[in-house]
Amino acid sequence: MSYKKELEVIQKAAEAAAMIIREYTKNSTFEIKLKGKNDLVTDADLASEKKIIENILHSFPDDMILAEESEQKVSLPEGRVWIIDPIDGTTNFAHGFPAYCISIALWENKKPVVGLVMEVANGEVFHAVKGGGAFRNGDTIRISEETDPSASLIGTGFPYKDLDLVDNYLVLFKRMMGKTHGVRRPGTAAWDLCNVACGRFEGFYEYGLSAWDVAAGSLIIQEAGGTVMDWTGGSNWLFGQRIIAGNAPMCDFLLKEIQECFRKDELRA
Ligand code: IPD
Ligand code: CA
Ligand code: CA
Repeated sequence: MSYKKELEVIQKAAEAAAMIIREYTKNSTFEIKLKGKNDLVTDADLASEKKIIENILHSFPDDMILAEESEQKVSLPEGRVWIIDPIDGTTNFAHGFPAYCISIALWENKKPVVGLVMEVANGEVFHAVKGGGAFRNGDTIRISEETDPSASLIGTGFPYKDLDLVDNYLVLFKRMMGKTHGVRRPGTAAWDLCNVACGRFEGFYEYGLSAWDVAAGSLIIQEAGGTVMDWTGGSNWLFGQRIIAGNAPMCDFLLKEIQECFRKDELRA
């Protein structure tokens, strides 16, 4: 199946949502609310999500929705589910730091089939359809072929809600600083994953993530030739909150480093 119509619909939905978000940025009129500690939501998140869901349901009224601000789920049913993050990187958006994106994925019978990530501030668009390769602004992308950790650039996200594992995280972070070219933390996991897909990062790891953070970016990585796994090396990364991504040798390297810094029960899966 080509999923041509699905891709067209979400391209249009993302463009419409990005216009809304840009308007809020221009006028600085948005209100910032706290959903929990350091967990921000703005009017722009809500308006973006509404627009995306309206567009999708207009074309595919029978499909299901899992969206950060309105339709949360803890597992995927059989059938077609659209997984939406209306602004990934809300903290960046709220502070005017230009790294935030819209992430939309379609999962069918618990497998990713379409993914699109649009970085709003700079207009960079990544997309993939199962079996059809991965693209950045329409051009094919491939994962980095670099397999030597000492020549790699690694992406990560800093924990900010669940701080119980921060000590282990910092031990790991220090190791990464010593064993790689460097570590970057853009603050928008969906776009971070796309940076792996197009070879800017050799690898990525983070914990505390939700399904909408990783649903699209992971398919884009897989279609670019990369690997995605949870912190046990398994496949429970959509709802498992912990992710490793990269080319296969870099994933093995990251998995080993992570497993040496966290207790077995902290790796969960
Ligand atoms: C957050 C971003 C951030 C990551 C957090 C996510 P949000 O998403 O992806 O990079 O570190 O774990 O929650 O809340 O801005 O949609
Ligand atoms: Ca997010
Ligand atoms: Ca969000």
